[in-house]
Amino acid sequence: MQSGKLITFEGLDGCGKSTQLDKAKKWLKLQGCEVIKTQQPGGTKIGKLIRNILLNPEHKELNPESELLLYLSDRIQHITEIIIPAKIDGKIVLCDRFHDSTVAYQGYGRGLNLESIESIINQRIKPYTPDLTFLLTISTKTIAHRLDQRKEKSVKDRLDIESHNFFERTAKGYQELASAEPERFVCLDGEQEIEYIHQKIISELKIRFSIG
Ligand SMILES: Nc1ncnc2c1ncn2[C@@H]1O[C@H](COP(=O)(O)OP(=O)(O)OP(=O)(O)O)[C@@H](O)[C@H]1O
Ligand SMILES: [Mg+2]
Repeated sequence: MQSGKLITFEGLDGCGKSTQLDKAKKWLKLQGCEVIKTQQPGGTKIGKLIRNILLNPEHKELNPESELLLYLSDRIQHITEIIIPAKIDGKIVLCDRFHDSTVAYQGYGRGLNLESIESIINQRIKPYTPDLTFLLTISTKTIAHRLDQRKEKSVKDRLDIESHNFFERTAKGYQELASAEPERFVCLDGEQEIEYIHQKIISELKIRFSIG
């Protein structure tokens, strides 16, 4: 039923996901592919409302379990509205963050036990595991530097103000996910030059999907 591809970009805040996704999208379009760019949270109308709750720095009272369920709600909405139809149409979906972010941030970062929601994950999310995931790695020092350079410093989102230890735990989570699925993950050093990383991404797309 599904001839399209889901390709996700993962990694800590400021690692270069959006930068690389945009470049990959341009390149894929030049090769004649039908490409959709989307993001989680916030890829759908309902998802945008959820995103506003999740990333608003004023929402300090947001309970970690509520946060987790909001991410899942966004994901299920996104899979149903965007990913399934696009894959059926044979499109390439480039998604800025997906379920690996939830496991790394909520599971490892916040220390939540995801077992209580395992049946939802198994039924509604696992069947749509990405075909390929680019994981960009950067040090927590680089995160601090890149986030400081953001133009609108005053509107840093909730996650930007998380602690150094939180990011260390989240990075460890990503590494464990990548080790568990070495076929799906391509790990890239996010501290390299933007163009160098882009070329690595292109060569992977060429090899995996015979594009270009
Ligand atoms: N390889 C790189 N070297 C130096 N700077 C980079 C590199 N990649 C991205 N940047 C810069 O770092 C900042 C963050 O990049 P980007 O927005 O792509 O990250 P992100 O992973 O999408 O962040 P977020 O998780 O917050 O959405 C931007 O100012 C971008 O220009
Ligand atoms: Mg981004």
